[in-house]
Amino acid sequence: MLDQLEKLAARASAELQKIASLEDLEGWRVSYLGRKSRLIEILRSLGDVAVEERRELGSRANQLKNSLESQLSIKKERLEQALHQLLEHNKIDITLPGEPYQPGNLHLTTKTVKEICDIFVSMGFQVVEGPEVEWERYNFEMLNMPAGHPARDGFATLWVDYQTKTGARPMLMRTHTSPTQPRVMEKSSPPIRVVAPGRVYRYEATDATHEWMFSQVEGFAIDKNITMADLKGTLFEFARRLFGQDRKCRFRVDYFPFVEPGCEIAIDCFMCGGKGCRLCKESGWIEILGAGMIHPEVLRGCGIDPDEYSGFAFGMGVERIPILRYGIDDIRLFYSNDLRFLKQF
Ligand code: PHE
Repeated sequence: MLDQLEKLAARASAELQKIASLEDLEGWRVSYLGRKSRLIEILRSLGDVAVEERRELGSRANQLKNSLESQLSIKKERLEQALHQLLEHNKIDITLPGEPYQPGNLHLTTKTVKEICDIFVSMGFQVVEGPEVEWERYNFEMLNMPAGHPARDGFATLWVDYQTKTGARPMLMRTHTSPTQPRVMEKSSPPIRVVAPGRVYRYEATDATHEWMFSQVEGFAIDKNITMADLKGTLFEFARRLFGQDRKCRFRVDYFPFVEPGCEIAIDCFMCGGKGCRLCKESGWIEILGAGMIHPEVLRGCGIDPDEYSGFAFGMGVERIPILRYGIDDIRLFYSNDLRFLKQF
């Protein structure tokens, strides 16, 4: 049995050396010092051993038990220390500055739309929105452009593949925000003061100055005695708030079937002050919107009596404003999702 004890001692020490976790150490304790371990069995059965052997065996077994117990406690302390160090090393220091995460920002178009609408809201206009998928009726017919009207050619139209029972294809992607005019007029009665921002679509090849989708802001006011002077005053004020107090405005005749008279409004170039430069293409003027007095036929078609009421309307391209302001040389940058561009604004 003495021999057995010696082998046990050697095996226990060798195994202990390899142990690297507290769980394994507990396993080791159970197998060498546990109640069912060989050593404890030997100690418990000492009474049955012949007297001559008992003393030597007993002292050796007790010695081994003490030795294993002290090896166990030393190992345990080491493992606990190592664990503590590991935790100490890996702990999170909450006083360190956090990783900043990128806050998003509004899209340049959205910002510009807000800026435009805010100006009109402060003048008493209300913001409404219309659908981007539109009926031909609102986009053209009610705006004084019946089927076959040559002005339709000016709006390269994306037609929606939808056919009625009679074979007509009356659905399209709106080519401008002007269909919000008949939509609002049909449902409400004057006085009306509305701005309607939104996306519009044109069936066009894209290049640096053309996109098949862009944004417009429509505006119109209908009341008794609205005249061209109201149009002029409102848009002049708008241009000065957006482009600076000393801006000059130029009104020139233009044609849109849904206004009469129609005009195009330009501001003096804010880059060269009107002397002529690259931005204004040497003309000194920058066109910013189309406008006019709402055509009596359009009013009548929406149930508003043109003998009693009159109104003005205007429509402007949104992207054009930051393009001019920041010298952006390609309109395609707006919708190509390049964050290096979008984050700048
Ligand atoms: N809808 C016109 C366009 O897209 C602009 C416009 C709006 C002109 C309102 C006059 C009045 O070109």
